[in-house]
Amino acid sequence: MNLPDLKEAKVRTKKEIKIIRDDYQVPENMKTMGKDKKYYLKTYGCQMNVHDSENIKAILEDMSFTETMEMEDADIILLNTCAIRENAHNKMFGFLGRVKHLKESRPEVICGICGCMAQEESVVDDIKRKYKWVDIVFGTHNLHKLPLILEESLEKNKQEIEVFSIEGDVYEGIPVKRDSKYKAWVNIMYGCDKFCTYCIVPYTRGKQRSRMPEDIIKEVKELVNNGYKEVTLLGQNVNAYGKDLNIDYTMGELLEATAKTGIDRIRFVTSHPWDFDDKMIDIIAKYDNIMPYIHLPLQSGSDKILKLMGRRYTKEKYIELFNKIKEKVKNCSITTDIIVAFPGETEEDFKDTLDVVNTCKFDSAFTFIYSPRIGTPAAKMKNDLTEQEKNERLYKLNKLVNKYANEANQKYMGKVVQVLLESPSEKPGKLMGYTDTMKLVNVEASEEYLGKIVDVEITDVKTWSLDGKLVD
Ligand code: 5AD
Ligand code: SF4
Repeated sequence: MNLPDLKEAKVRTKKEIKIIRDDYQVPENMKTMGKDKKYYLKTYGCQMNVHDSENIKAILEDMSFTETMEMEDADIILLNTCAIRENAHNKMFGFLGRVKHLKESRPEVICGICGCMAQEESVVDDIKRKYKWVDIVFGTHNLHKLPLILEESLEKNKQEIEVFSIEGDVYEGIPVKRDSKYKAWVNIMYGCDKFCTYCIVPYTRGKQRSRMPEDIIKEVKELVNNGYKEVTLLGQNVNAYGKDLNIDYTMGELLEATAKTGIDRIRFVTSHPWDFDDKMIDIIAKYDNIMPYIHLPLQSGSDKILKLMGRRYTKEKYIELFNKIKEKVKNCSITTDIIVAFPGETEEDFKDTLDVVNTCKFDSAFTFIYSPRIGTPAAKMKNDLTEQEKNERLYKLNKLVNKYANEANQKYMGKVVQVLLESPSEKPGKLMGYTDTMKLVNVEASEEYLGKIVDVEITDVKTWSLDGKLVD
């Protein structure tokens, strides 16, 4: 048993990260373990978790399990969890209630928890005390060990917890079962060293570890050869890519090398304004296959709050960067993340946030009420706001954000845009996809257009989506 430890998770050692390129293999004796058995995997949280789930699915299928979308039919139920805010916690514990119910009638069902919550000491303590029926818990640093963890749990017939607080090496070649045939997630780095004071990620995902450029480019080239149209380069703070490697190679260079593979569309998330250098902006502007879309989290518009958050930029610097990107990258859409009601946020501070929204007129924004995370510095800061005040701020902010999102979308009316049609839309007879600027479009088109980048004329505009028809 290995349990998570918050103090250890905070530590950043100089230990060199090894890159393991051995061929990943499920142990021979476990390859048929899942014959005639099904797994159900529920994923919460960010794209990083979604991509981890693609690895978990491939590992389980290498063990002969097949996927089911019905939890009630499953022999293994896995929850890939998120720890970013309290409501993510609540969702998981709510879901566990349903699993417990199922296990009462089918005790042989295996229940496992993985992902960011599994890295949290307080959560694992709770699972050990109150959820003894959960069979396995494994963390973000060792999902490749899943077959062995499963075997141990079955052999010993007891709860198996395998969570490492200190990150491991970078494993190449872990199998992946991609959810889409047209767009793919590609990890370029793991972990984060920014330690924004509200954020749990540096503890749950560990120290920043970049993959080597040649491994990333090899993966993108394989995707191109397999007909993929789009890659999204993934990291908690992609702009810091390469800074932990002993080679002189940064995100600008990686973007350029990715562009040269000839893949149709390149996106990347998430950016931190601190590491966004001019070179990156120039490369994004130079290559047509790097999409003019940037997610640039603001978090707050108040210099005082930004400082308390440990964000290392001011309102002025953020706006300066925003303007520079807009100037250099033609037709660029920019979205953001904003937290309201951080400890110490006064009405004046909140107005500063609204002020930046009024200046930048974001294409869209994800907005959140600050949620204290155990073990982060901000969790110890005093917060005097009432629930009502917090909700009122969020409401006001959302109203403003929606106004600008709608205005940004209105500009598309009657225009012809390129859309990668990726799946059937919820609306019958339509397919859905995204513009280069990441606007969701529902298009009247038959399924033969799936996976194609097509010209679409926008015929109707809503706050969160566009409607369009194919241009002949
Ligand atoms: N409370 C509220 N929002 C948070 N985020 C990260 N940590 C917290 C927290 N403790 C938000 C940030 C980040 C996004 C992924 O989630 O805005 O950019
Ligand atoms: Fe969290 Fe992002 Fe800050 Fe890293 S850069 S600590 S992931 S908010």
